[in-house]
Amino acid sequence: MNSLLGKSITKELDLTAEEFLALLDLAANLKAATKQGSEAQKLIGKSVALIFEKTSTRTRAAFEVAMAQQGGSVTVFDPNSAQIGHKESIADTAKVLSRMYDAIMYRGAAQNTVETLATNSSVPVINGLTDQWHPTQMLADLLTMREVAGPDLTNFKFCYLGDARNNMGNSFLITAAMLGMNFSIAAPTALWPTAELIEQANKIAKTTGAQLQLTQSAQQAVADSQFVHTDVWVSMGEPNSVWQSRIEQLLPYQVNTELMKHAAPNAKFMHCLPAYHDENTDVGKQAAAIAGFTGGLEVTDEVFQSSANIAFDQAENRLHTIKALLVSTILG
Ligand code: CP
Ligand code: NVA
Repeated sequence: MNSLLGKSITKELDLTAEEFLALLDLAANLKAATKQGSEAQKLIGKSVALIFEKTSTRTRAAFEVAMAQQGGSVTVFDPNSAQIGHKESIADTAKVLSRMYDAIMYRGAAQNTVETLATNSSVPVINGLTDQWHPTQMLADLLTMREVAGPDLTNFKFCYLGDARNNMGNSFLITAAMLGMNFSIAAPTALWPTAELIEQANKIAKTTGAQLQLTQSAQQAVADSQFVHTDVWVSMGEPNSVWQSRIEQLLPYQVNTELMKHAAPNAKFMHCLPAYHDENTDVGKQAAAIAGFTGGLEVTDEVFQSSANIAFDQAENRLHTIKALLVSTILG
């Protein structure tokens, strides 16, 4: 593959399919080395700046542990306690941080912010989630699917149900198109990706042979799928007031035992997490009260607690794939 040295990854399309797959290979090797205790530390003396305008558990943990295991260090910036955005522009922040750090990770709302950082930075900038894209999640999810289904990602069908006009739906559509995969989205049309994005994905699919389907039928999308993905129905940054209407719109797309019966034999359930599968969180409790039912929203607790659930493998794979991305973009 071409070297990713110095390259910013603000969205999936910043990578070629070849580069994407090579990152998965590297992540698998790094994962094996970590497990065997034979990991070679390549990032000794390197530092990464992590900017979180939105909250995180997995993404922060993955960047921090990846750098620690590789012998490097991180600084976490919470914009409330730094000048970023209030007293200093994003462009100037990029120029300052790239004088001291070897890479910058940004998580926040606006895609424009991560792109402005990348334009003004002399070190790689990685998108750790924006409203539009979640590329590091794609790497982890595709590695996880490979671990279950084997290396050929074109060998099976997978689907995504729920809020499809958000980061996860957008990212899956483009990633599936790029990698020539068989992928279905089920959502009400109001929650489909934009017409522009669907057209872009279809154009890419023509060159890669991807089979992309958008449907309003959860059963149709799930039919014969090896992997059934979903995400929260209300994403970070959206007001609590949208819960009521979102529950009404998305209840037909809840991943439950009945729906999983339509999937391929031994199909797996996937979720980027966090998930509202019970009432053991403040938001889960409030949302269940609005919904008027308990036992899970986007996924039932029954499916979540079943052996079909590989969401925690996905969570672990954030570490190995982000490590691969850091090694590749910092060292080439
Ligand atoms: N999946 C994911 O991005 O998790 P966090 O929000 O905890 O980082
Ligand atoms: N769509 C979710 C993904 C969380 C990892 C959100 O943006 O909140």
